[in-house]
Amino acid sequence: MSQLHRGKIILITGAASGMGLEESAVLASQGAEVWMTDIAQDKLIESHQKLVESLPENSGDIHLEVLDVASASSWQALAEKIKATSGRLDGLVNNAGRTLRASLVDTSDEDWLSVMNINLNSVFYGMKYCYSLLAQADNAAIVNVSSTAGLMAHSGPAYGTSKWGVRGLSQSAALEFGEEGIRVNSIHPGLVSSPLLNSGSTEFVEESLKAIPLNRIAEPSEVAEVVSFLLSSQSSYITGTEIVIDGGLNSGGTYKQIVDRINA
Ligand SMILES: NC(=O)c1ccc[n+]([C@@H]2O[C@H](COP(=O)([O-])OP(=O)(O)OC[C@H]3O[C@@H](n4cnc5c(N)ncnc54)[C@H](O)[C@@H]3O)[C@@H](O)[C@H]2O)c1
Repeated sequence: MSQLHRGKIILITGAASGMGLEESAVLASQGAEVWMTDIAQDKLIESHQKLVESLPENSGDIHLEVLDVASASSWQALAEKIKATSGRLDGLVNNAGRTLRASLVDTSDEDWLSVMNINLNSVFYGMKYCYSLLAQADNAAIVNVSSTAGLMAHSGPAYGTSKWGVRGLSQSAALEFGEEGIRVNSIHPGLVSSPLLNSGSTEFVEESLKAIPLNRIAEPSEVAEVVSFLLSSQSSYITGTEIVIDGGLNSGGTYKQIVDRINA
């Protein structure tokens, strides 16, 4: 396994499950010291136990911390702890999120605010409270996890709006943090195999496949490898941009369906 991130200190949110867990595995196995954080403490401990059994011997150390990304005070406490323990951060992955497949009129006020808090305000807090730690590093990088729902209309307006917000916030932060050499990019996965995706109806996933030119959903590792690249020196001149990881859904999904129907 390459030691691409040896010596780096990287914080990942929502690391107990799905993509955050896979990103922790890839980055630790590439030598990074990883702060795995999640709101779900038991799940975090259980996932970590399974993870360490599968990691190569020369992997980086892992810290486990409970973090509620929707809480400013939770972020402040964690930033203080990292300052006292590691002194800096080389990478931040704002990955934690929740989904909501509800129409605009069926979205309760509470759900709207919850989605904004967990998916969007979290990214603001993360970048704001980790900024001084990131500024201590040479060439730090932030990856904010948006979605294809942040690039096009989505049938769940709360989810879509939060992910469009992540995209805009990432670009504003890239503008502001560039002077400190901190790069900021957003990633836009399409359908990725994870508990979040599988929490909805299987019909949604099956129908969506008809609009994916690669004709399959992604594995979490296919997203984790892109996160690793964006945190590495291999992407040293990439900031303020969006990487779409969707098997072609956003660029060619509509035409795939039209062509498939004509050919049927
Ligand atoms: N799975 C997909 O198809 C897909 C596609 C595009 C974007 N995304 C985005 O990718 C990210 C990861 O999704 P996933 O599919 O791995 O989901 P997942 O449900 O497997 O993992 C999400 C993790 O976030 C944690 N979390 C939820 N609320 C939190 C909070 N307040 N504070 C801290 N942690 C919290 C959960 O405990 C969980 O461990 C999310 O931002 C999601 O919106 C997912």
